[in-house]
Amino acid sequence: MSKNILITGESGFIGSHLLRCFINKYPDYMIHGLDSLTYASNRIFNQELEQKNNYKFHKIDIRNRDEVIQLFEIEKYTDVIHLAAESHVDNSIENPLIFAETNVLGTLNLLDAFRKFSNGRFHHVSTDEVYGDLKINDPAFEETTSYSPSSPYSASKAASDHFVRAYYRTYGIDATITNCSNNFGPHQHREKFIPTIIQSIIEGRSIPIYGKGENIRDWLYVQDHVGAIDKVFHEGASGATYNVGGDNELTNIDLVYKICDIMLNKGYCSGNPRKLISFIKDREGHDLRYAINSQKLNIELEWAPKFKFLDVLSSTIDWYVDYLK
Ligand SMILES: NC(=O)c1ccc[n+]([C@@H]2O[C@H](COP(=O)([O-])OP(=O)(O)OC[C@H]3O[C@@H](n4cnc5c(N)ncnc54)[C@H](O)[C@@H]3O)[C@@H](O)[C@H]2O)c1
Repeated sequence: MSKNILITGESGFIGSHLLRCFINKYPDYMIHGLDSLTYASNRIFNQELEQKNNYKFHKIDIRNRDEVIQLFEIEKYTDVIHLAAESHVDNSIENPLIFAETNVLGTLNLLDAFRKFSNGRFHHVSTDEVYGDLKINDPAFEETTSYSPSSPYSASKAASDHFVRAYYRTYGIDATITNCSNNFGPHQHREKFIPTIIQSIIEGRSIPIYGKGENIRDWLYVQDHVGAIDKVFHEGASGATYNVGGDNELTNIDLVYKICDIMLNKGYCSGNPRKLISFIKDREGHDLRYAINSQKLNIELEWAPKFKFLDVLSSTIDWYVDYLK
């Protein structure tokens, strides 16, 4: 086996897609998946992969330093792709502590184990939310934009990014970081925005939208994010950060309208689902707009999103209608 890679957060939304991609695309790599199987995980999607001879799963909590160090000592990973995290902004407002424990201290445990036992690359999967938010006419975030996180979630991700860079500078580990915009696609936990809208429409319940739905997000199909991680992990410059985005800004209300219209046209609901929209009290510290400039990734590594937004939004809706029924 040419590489022995640990993918953390393998049973989560993005991790499940990345895991499948790496196991199938790189049969000469040994892929180990790690996950503590929190409420946000869904191992069912990965169970079919257990027949593959280049895959092994470990149920480990990255907050447990001894278990993390012991795992690296035994398995001698060459590389790490780190996705395990508490990922829901609303939960971080209710309970910030676990975000610091998993996203910051858990990342430190992995970095220390990596530093002692690995000689390949540590790729850290992060978010555009570390940059804070933008006004309507501001230019999109670049890799040089200062960090200004708004929520406990984005603060914890920002801290973990800083630790990865500090380990690159201080201990000379080979590290890369990607900061990506909002992902969508199959396997996402139903607490997240798009699955919540789809489920509300299927059940004929009200569709909750913060404030007036004017917040703007950039949406990227999860397989495009996986493609970007694959590129940066294999070809990115050591110590570099790359922004990943879909160049696809939408207000929340426009996104909801698009989903309503697709579901109405496909006959997934009786009556016009737009009537279910219900505006609720805005989230504390709610960022107005995120927009991400991925030119560096595009120019240096020739990455661009491949999927057409409306096509994959439509196939994502089909997937959830089937999964949730
Ligand atoms: N979803 C997005 O839109 C998005 C965008 C940019 C970056 N990211 C980042 O990508 C990564 C994956 O995001 P996701 O949407 O797949 O999240 P997710 O919540 O779906 O999955 C996270 C996984 O991490 C696991 N996990 C949580 N705490 C753990 C712990 N202490 N030890 C071991 N495993 C633990 C969970 O069980 C879960 O399977 C995160 O680091 C997130 O910050 C996500």
